[in-house]
Amino acid sequence: MAKPLFEGCIFDLDGVIVDTAKYHFLSWNKLARNLGFEIKEEDNEQLKGISRVDSLEIVLKIGNYTLPQKEKLKCLKSKNDYYLEYVQKLTAKDALPGVEEFLQELKKESYKISLGSASANARGIIDKLNFTQYFHAIVDGTDVQKSKPHPEVFLRASALLQIDPKKIVVFEDAQKGIKAAHSAGCLAVGVGDPEVLSEADINIKGFKGYSMNDLIRSLSELAAK
Ligand code: BG6
Ligand code: MG
Repeated sequence: MAKPLFEGCIFDLDGVIVDTAKYHFLSWNKLARNLGFEIKEEDNEQLKGISRVDSLEIVLKIGNYTLPQKEKLKCLKSKNDYYLEYVQKLTAKDALPGVEEFLQELKKESYKISLGSASANARGIIDKLNFTQYFHAIVDGTDVQKSKPHPEVFLRASALLQIDPKKIVVFEDAQKGIKAAHSAGCLAVGVGDPEVLSEADINIKGFKGYSMNDLIRSLSELAAK
């Protein structure tokens, strides 16, 4: 029998399952404005996929701003308060188009599925979307020490799924997430702009109209290379 092309998938959350990347950006910008500067859309790419603490350091650097540790903690709390306000009304309808159908297909075919997110809010959001049912494992920002591009989040998820990372496909919208997937030994599908995510093994614009057969076809093509 032919070896299966993959045995499981790991999904990033923000920007892959739900369009919360924009809320992270808006919250950071609100914080930055309070401090007297702006962050631009193009700065957002470097904020994707990394922890709240690491993001704050980047935001402060953008504004050329230094703060004592105590003030940093206040900023982290404010940013999260803004973010929680944005996401409080999320419902199942806010999942990105086609992603639920794709998860359903994977589940029907008995593939193992994990979440691999840097967000400490990930479990709450998955719950709001009513997506907990799709995941055999959830690894979020409360479970890991190191931010993407470090592979910790994906190695942990692979271990929980009990699958060799080489047999796992990671779906990511962040450059640092693609790097983390590769460092873990996984295959990476870039979800979003293919120019930004040029290091991915496979690129898709989103899940709308995307099926497991499409994934299998791309994986076969890669394997044949
Ligand atoms: C990642 C996002 O998934 O989670 C980042 O891409 C975010 O933008 C990070 O900063 C941490 O999220 P949270 O919810 O713990 O502040
Ligand atoms: Mg993301």
